Amino acid sequence: MSKYIIEGGHKLSGEVKVHGAKNSSLPLLAATLLTADISAIENCPQITDLDAAKRILQHLGCEIKQEGNTLIVDTSVITCDDIPDELMREMRSSIVFLGAIVSRLHQCKISFPGGCELGARPIDLHVSSLQQMGLKIEEQHGCLDCFIDGKLKGANIALSFPSVGATENIMIAAALADGETTITNAAREPEIVDLAAYLNKCGARIKGAGESTIVISGVEKLHGCTHRVIPDRIVAATFMSAAAITRGDIVLIDVNPRDLISVIPIFEEMGCAVTTDSSHIYIRCDGRPKAVRTIRTMPYPGFPTDSQALLMAVMSVADGTSVFVENIFENRYKHAAELARLGAKIKVEGKVAIVEGIEQLLSAPVRATDLRGGAAVIIGALNAIGKTEVSGLAHISRGYQNLHETLNELGAQILLED
Ligand code: EPZ
Repeated sequence: MSKYIIEGGHKLSGEVKVHGAKNSSLPLLAATLLTADISAIENCPQITDLDAAKRILQHLGCEIKQEGNTLIVDTSVITCDDIPDELMREMRSSIVFLGAIVSRLHQCKISFPGGCELGARPIDLHVSSLQQMGLKIEEQHGCLDCFIDGKLKGANIALSFPSVGATENIMIAAALADGETTITNAAREPEIVDLAAYLNKCGARIKGAGESTIVISGVEKLHGCTHRVIPDRIVAATFMSAAAITRGDIVLIDVNPRDLISVIPIFEEMGCAVTTDSSHIYIRCDGRPKAVRTIRTMPYPGFPTDSQALLMAVMSVADGTSVFVENIFENRYKHAAELARLGAKIKVEGKVAIVEGIEQLLSAPVRATDLRGGAAVIIGALNAIGKTEVSGLAHISRGYQNLHETLNELGAQILLED
């Protein structure tokens, strides 16, 4: 079982290119199924969740060629309509293939998706929305047997929660449906905008992506296209957190600062100097970070739940006490116990976590509990005196391309031990 050996206390500085967004590239790959054509998806991150998505497409009969970070996806031929349980369990995004497969084949057999264990992670919004569009779903023995008579039909869908995945599933299913679909209370994340941009390039007619109401007018046919995945805003927040906790100064290249609209002010409040231009973020953190006011996770454009663990690691060495309120997932504090092994003083009460900052963390064996929780313990280890062992690296490779090599290029001392 491989692990990182991280020697803390090294200041990070230099330039880092932010790779393509995991949470955009995954629904984009599912959406290629609608085109029965060839698409080139550029700037794909080389991460294991994408490998899982490629395996699903290949299982369905599609051809995929990889040229660096570009995936050439040929979905002209589909030879089956099911996704095996072991593939469904590999990640959360597998559920977003449902809308694409039923739109193309009018039937599909899947089980429940996997992904980080952040709580129940139900799919009721996905299922109820697609049922409103005419999908019939029979659940038996943990399997969803889905079919429609003819095509999916446009519908007026009001989401009880602005679910990212459900918004994506509906957009994909509605692109070739009969008639118009309106999503109210839609998710507004940048990844939704990126998916709509790809689909519109393929000939879809989607308006309002990025707002709370999205209107999709179904069309007869879609064709392939070339599309570049947006930068990963959570990876950007990860490197900013690493800079802050090591009192470093780094330049993030190929990033969209507007996608971090509610994250950048937090770094400024803790005392970092942050400047931006259209594709860069410059962050410099000279002294010990100051505790910030309460961080409440919210749907975009609020503070992203995926950055909560990252900022908690930084606040564990802040001057003062900070409060986190996790409003999106019911169990997203597993990293708190791991940070506590490094000496962090964190009290968790339900969805509230109180972090009393200490001067410096101390090395200890810790493990990644999930993708972003794992990134948080690595950020903590960059500050901890001594050598910290981090295990559970499979979680990390799901969403970060070459994380330790990139951190070492910035001045970290991380050894990968097999
Ligand atoms: C996406 O997950 C992201 N994953 C998550 O990132 C991210 O944390 C989340 O959006 C919120 O921004 C991908 O895009 C692959 P949701 P998703 O549907 O779509 C509840 C990471 O670290 N809900 O917006 O699953 C759900 O339980 C990952 O990169 C229902 O109740 O998120 C949660 O409490 C972690 N029923 C809330 O909504 C449903 O049918 C938000 O979920 C669907 C969701």
